[in-house]
Amino acid sequence: MTARDSRAKNRFLVYILATALVGLLLYLFYAFEPAMRTDLGAHVAGREDSLLKIPKLVLWGVLSYLAVRALNATLFGAVFRFRRGYEAPTLVRNIFSIVAFTALFFFVFNRIYPEVNLGAVFTTSAIFGVIIGLALQDTLGNFFSGISLHADRPFQVGDVITVGQQKHTGVVEGITWRAIKIRTFQNHVVLVSNSNAAKEAIEVCPRENLNARLVFFGTLYTDSPAKTIHVVREAIHDAENVSRKITPIVRIRNLGEFAIEWEIKYWLEDYAKYNDTDALVRQRVWYALRRNGLSFAFPTRTIHVERKSTATGIPKNGQGVIDRLLAVEIFAPLSAEETEKLAAASASHVFAPGEMVIRAGDQGSSMFVVHNGRVQVQVTENGKARNVAVLNEGDFFGEMALFTGEPRTANVVALEETEVLEIGHAAMKPLFESNPDLAESISYIIAERRVGLAARQEEIPGAASEPAGLLNSIKRFFGLG
Ligand code: CMP
Repeated sequence: MTARDSRAKNRFLVYILATALVGLLLYLFYAFEPAMRTDLGAHVAGREDSLLKIPKLVLWGVLSYLAVRALNATLFGAVFRFRRGYEAPTLVRNIFSIVAFTALFFFVFNRIYPEVNLGAVFTTSAIFGVIIGLALQDTLGNFFSGISLHADRPFQVGDVITVGQQKHTGVVEGITWRAIKIRTFQNHVVLVSNSNAAKEAIEVCPRENLNARLVFFGTLYTDSPAKTIHVVREAIHDAENVSRKITPIVRIRNLGEFAIEWEIKYWLEDYAKYNDTDALVRQRVWYALRRNGLSFAFPTRTIHVERKSTATGIPKNGQGVIDRLLAVEIFAPLSAEETEKLAAASASHVFAPGEMVIRAGDQGSSMFVVHNGRVQVQVTENGKARNVAVLNEGDFFGEMALFTGEPRTANVVALEETEVLEIGHAAMKPLFESNPDLAESISYIIAERRVGLAARQEEIPGAASEPAGLLNSIKRFFGLG
């Protein structure tokens, strides 16, 4: 049995005892009334009747009070909780008790003093009204604000709210006659008077609602946004109290002075624990960034010292680029030296997931090799995109337009963060001149890819599809003999 249950049981016992006692007193009073009347008559002749009415009124008054309490407990304690699923607000219970008790008391008073018109006493006393009005100005203000708060039902016990001029935030513990009682996250109890609360905007984060939080951090400009999004989302989605129902959002909120400024939006299971969960999310971000070689930004000043290019002209990650090009099938006929030259002439570009590297129909004078990541080749049929192929690291694309001078035949879209090496017309021309085999092997590959595109509605006008025809058009385009 919980402490709450045993307290309720004790209260119930006291209540039964009190009712029994008052009942007994009333019984005794009525039983001995004739005797008391004779006794009193001997001392205060003629006034015994009005003297006997006072204890009678008191006893009936107490009994009325107990009856109202019993009704209150049955109506709100049991019926309200079982039928509606939550406890009746204190304010509603109190209003009910006052109205019921006043009505009962009027009734009892009328029975005992039928000659006194209580209604007239209250309604005709203007001064009484003024006094009551002035004395209860604030109280009544709070009372009516409380009633309107209950009528609107903007929040319930257990919700987190921000209320009042000082913007107190905490969990609602109760709404009384006078005030809203909230427990702040420092475990303080704050009472915001109902009339104050009613004047200000109240921010409510309902308990049964998926409430969101924002957490901020910043990374260096050199860190990849796509990677950061992936790493952070993975790091936080299974953190305690982070809701699994909605995937957290990780997005760039600003390109700041020295940092890419990020915002994490996540949803909580239990909003009342948002401080702990924010902290956990920040902690997870720290570890995830560290594990993945990403860095938090802090105020920095970057001085760029431009160095003369190296003797070979190969970029810093040159060996990686050379290795990549050596593995590309169409460049197989090239010597090591030629591949190095090609690497030096290539430019690296990074595309975000979903970005278009090549758009069908554009003019193009370069081809690309996928260095890191993946791309998708799409053609448009009747306004709908059809995926033709996925190209991985070491695959190439864009050769058709480069080698034939025709418009791009397809869209190529980055599927994830993708680094491509771009090789232009000028870089290829000397290679064709020194390597006649190259033009031939390329013509075979283009012919093969054309077959993949055959389902397209309109063919490229005047485009050759046979390797021999393609070879001729390559030779023509590059001015080869
Ligand atoms: P280009 O026409 O210059 O631009 C679009 C590129 O998509 C095209 O060159 C090819 O490199 C590539 N492409 C077209 N069809 C296919 C396919 N079936 N398989 C792989 N790549 C393709």
